[in-house]
Amino acid sequence: MNHATLFRASAALFPPPHSTSSTRTNVTDNIAIDGRNVNFSITTRQGKVVPILRDCSLRIPSGQFWMLLGPNGCGKSTLLKILAGVLSPTNGTVYVKRPKSFVFQNPDHQVVMPTVEADVAFGLGKFNLTCGEVRSRVSKALDAVGMSDYLQRSVQTLSGGQKQRVAIAGALAEACKVLLLDELTTFLDENDQIGVIKAVRNSLDSSEEVTALWVTHRLEELEYADGAVYMENGEVVMQGDAASILDFIRVRQSAYIKQINS
Ligand SMILES: Nc1ncnc2c1ncn2[C@@H]1O[C@H](COP(=O)(O)OP(=O)(O)OP(=O)(O)O)[C@@H](O)[C@H]1O
Ligand SMILES: [Mg+2]
Repeated sequence: MNHATLFRASAALFPPPHSTSSTRTNVTDNIAIDGRNVNFSITTRQGKVVPILRDCSLRIPSGQFWMLLGPNGCGKSTLLKILAGVLSPTNGTVYVKRPKSFVFQNPDHQVVMPTVEADVAFGLGKFNLTCGEVRSRVSKALDAVGMSDYLQRSVQTLSGGQKQRVAIAGALAEACKVLLLDELTTFLDENDQIGVIKAVRNSLDSSEEVTALWVTHRLEELEYADGAVYMENGEVVMQGDAASILDFIRVRQSAYIKQINS
């Protein structure tokens, strides 16, 4: 069993020690993720403080599929880890609905049990469910990600994208309300990429309860999103509906190209 699976299985049980809380009263039910003025710095061995995130604020409505975009090194993964509770912000406040699940970039870090069925059922041990209830949850979750036909398959025989979908099914089976997904399509071929993104879209469409925040740098993936947050240099530059963010990034890219050419 590896670290990734341990985290996936235990995230709902052990709340992180920082300010993330599902009992905050000033956040309405229709907001799944609310970060306010989140700062994160690291201190080097020489004692120098290096800011990674600066005053990042974002609000993601419940039941929606949002993307977190921005150039390499702008702080997307760091912000996602703070939302997941893996890192604590230096200051600022973070609210994320629970239970939540963090799915990693590398598909081989996601699945550990011998079969698809066992892997999706893996996190359900803590819920004290009957065998029938476990089977029903596993079956519904695999259906949502389009993997029902793979119930008895050995996980070793799955493609990268299929492994990611099984990991997402594991989170859905645990009734996770928020999925935090970091560049899941990086290692995948085009077919697998589309399969994973459609699986997330379908999971949200089949349950009003689930919200997803998907980190990517692929602009074409925006067509599946309800909204997006755009970051640069450790700051949230803009957030809004997917079409507006796409326009904003294209204008920014062409201004950048003009600047280089001149
Ligand atoms: N523990 C750390 N020590 C030093 N620098 C760090 C640490 N963690 C992150 N950084 C730096 O913070 C910045 C943001 O990193 P992060 O991984 O969040 O970016 P990202 O937007 O996810 O990038 P990518 O698109 O390449 O995945 C980078 O410059 C990175 O080198
Ligand atoms: Mg990253």
